[in-house]
Amino acid sequence: MHKPPALLTVEALSKNFGGHQAVDKVSFSLQGGAIGGLIGPNGAGKTTLFNCLTGFLQAASGRVLLDGVSLTGLPSCDVFAAGLARTFQIPRPFPEMSVLENVMVAPRGQLGELFWANWLRRGRVAAQERETLEAARYWLDFVGLSALEQQAARVLSGGQRKLLELARVMVSQPKIVLLDEPAAGVNPALLDQITDKVLSLNAKGITFLIIEHNMDLVASLCNPVMVMAQGQMLMQGPADSVLNDPRVVEAYLGSPV
Ligand SMILES: Nc1ncnc2c1ncn2[C@@H]1O[C@H](COP(=O)(O)OP(=O)(O)OP(=O)(O)O)[C@@H](O)[C@H]1O
Ligand SMILES: [Mg+2]
Repeated sequence: MHKPPALLTVEALSKNFGGHQAVDKVSFSLQGGAIGGLIGPNGAGKTTLFNCLTGFLQAASGRVLLDGVSLTGLPSCDVFAAGLARTFQIPRPFPEMSVLENVMVAPRGQLGELFWANWLRRGRVAAQERETLEAARYWLDFVGLSALEQQAARVLSGGQRKLLELARVMVSQPKIVLLDEPAAGVNPALLDQITDKVLSLNAKGITFLIIEHNMDLVASLCNPVMVMAQGQMLMQGPADSVLNDPRVVEAYLGSPV
């Protein structure tokens, strides 16, 4: 049967920090509708790969395609506008801004930031700000943070910050969301909530790529699974075979088992 074209295609992406090859000719593709997992030991290059995919770092070489369109070399705001959104391993909301304001930051193509657009098209700007506000409230409700919308973001727990980030990226109507360790430092009750939200967004058609060290979460959510070790793509494929492969255990333990 003909395989549909991938939503995300990464070709031979490389990034070095001086003499250290953090990402070394990494290639993979992800079909639309998938929840892909990206695992590997500390320092494997997973976050650096996300940084290169999302324009937070410039790759030394390689290509990134979203829906067949090249994102290679674009700055992070343009990558975000193209529909590729990410959350951070350590979320850093604006601490003194309210939870609601944090979710309203940087939606796609916001007209209000452009002075002339503001001046010439005030009606349209006001309408867009209303839409953004509505969307922000919708996504805050979705992640269960509505009751806290007027609180300063600094009061949120680690797990609530992860939920806030999810709401923030959803306002941009992404095609694909990259989550960097959504389970790290999150208590079990909130973790169940995050898992449920990812599944429900995926059922609505959002594609995910998730970096995670929590293997139970990877096994229950992710397919396919990709494994990085020392900057390279060690293995990729169906979750059940990858997670049971002795080479993956070896990569984590750093020695043959
Ligand atoms: N800005 C930077 N400057 C120099 N070296 C860096 C930088 N960012 C990452 N590195 C190095 O690149 C390598 C890969 O780091 P990266 O953060 O991508 O790993 P990771 O797989 O996300 O690890 P973890 O699971 O601990 O989050 C590490 O050796 C790290 O020290
Ligand atoms: Mg990391």
